[in-house]
Amino acid sequence: MNEKRSSVTVPGDKSISHRALMIAALAPGRSTIEGLPEAGDVRSTAGALVAMGVGVDWPAGSGRAVVDPPAGWPTATVRLDCGNSGTSARLLSGLIAGLGLSARIDGDASLRSRPMDRVVYPLQAMGARIAYAEDDDRLPIDLEARASGGLRVLRYRARISSAQVKSALVLAALGEGVEFEMWEPGRSRDHTERLLAHLGVPLSFAPEGQGAHLRLGSEGRASLEPLDLRVPGDPSSAAFLLGAALLGERDLTVDDLLLNQTRTGFLEVLERMGAEIEIDVGEDRAGEPVGSVSVGAGPYQGVRIGADQIPLLIDEIPLIAVLAIRASGVTEISGAAELRLKESDRLSALAENLKAVGATVEERPDGLVIHGTPRLIPRGVVRTRGDHRIAMAFGSLASVQGAEIVTDDRECVAVSYPTFWDDCAAVSTNR
Ligand code: S3P
Repeated sequence: MNEKRSSVTVPGDKSISHRALMIAALAPGRSTIEGLPEAGDVRSTAGALVAMGVGVDWPAGSGRAVVDPPAGWPTATVRLDCGNSGTSARLLSGLIAGLGLSARIDGDASLRSRPMDRVVYPLQAMGARIAYAEDDDRLPIDLEARASGGLRVLRYRARISSAQVKSALVLAALGEGVEFEMWEPGRSRDHTERLLAHLGVPLSFAPEGQGAHLRLGSEGRASLEPLDLRVPGDPSSAAFLLGAALLGERDLTVDDLLLNQTRTGFLEVLERMGAEIEIDVGEDRAGEPVGSVSVGAGPYQGVRIGADQIPLLIDEIPLIAVLAIRASGVTEISGAAELRLKESDRLSALAENLKAVGATVEERPDGLVIHGTPRLIPRGVVRTRGDHRIAMAFGSLASVQGAEIVTDDRECVAVSYPTFWDDCAAVSTNR
């Protein structure tokens, strides 16, 4: 790798930030969280907690929140607007169910089109009373108040691997103080488990076969300590800068980055494509490995990605698909139908936009086949469908020398990475 490699940092991890704020709301006493990203989605979680009576003092741009649980939880119905954030809607469903509050949970048009049965059904099996206010399987949902003692032990074998579902159920069981056990068919991100175990909650979790198993004891909130946390950089945001560096044929290091293996599957894929990757794990922070990642640019080839890897790189598929158009050979992504249920139908959005910039791609029910052309100069208009990760993937692609990409909606990145366009321009060589 080039000796004069430049290094950058990225905003704090969005998944950990949602969890840290919600867990702080349950902890007995004041918590401090630093390194929060100024992301619309995380603001949605903070706003919902404030509506529930939680003290969240998070001045704009400071990255630092002081969180105080309420003296008493509200008895009137709380209205929670989750905006564009699926993680807020699903995790808050669990949190509210565990606390036994009366609430209506809603979101924007994109969030209202995403499935909720996956979290509503198991919460109902636990004993929560939840109803759809309008359409089945969709927001808005209504949760009914109940006295404590109303949730029961659940032992749940999930059919899909979703960290949002897993975390919602853990938060519900924790709030109520009931035992909970779950098996998931593939390993999804485990930040909720790590943070709770770090804070003293009796929770065991481990990979099992292709998937994972977790067990939460019945001690509940009483076993929780307040947080004092600095959130490490978000690998899902860093992915776009690392991708831009590869496409722009330059070397780049990202420091202070979360290196949890349930999030870094895309680095293994980049390595299989032939990129030079160096991972330096430094400290362990609140149960999470943190360090730096460097990429060294060079030619790369296509890759096959199957169902078992998808949960480990679910949010990075748009970036990998964009890289694949300049790889030598074919990239085949399968077992990825879950991508159709994200902020947009990402398989359809990727196929449409990859074609729009000149690539050859086939859309399949559960994936994409992309025929790479190493010297392709991407040119065209990208329709993001309001999806931040589609906008950022094609933003990275604009680093290719000579690329001319116009994006219809640059603002949509604000839900996860508001400074993306500036940060990406700083690592881009296509000026
Ligand atoms: C997330 C889990 C993933 C991911 C999302 C964030 C989380 O969703 O796509 O961006 O923080 O738990 P699923 O759990 O639906 O796979």
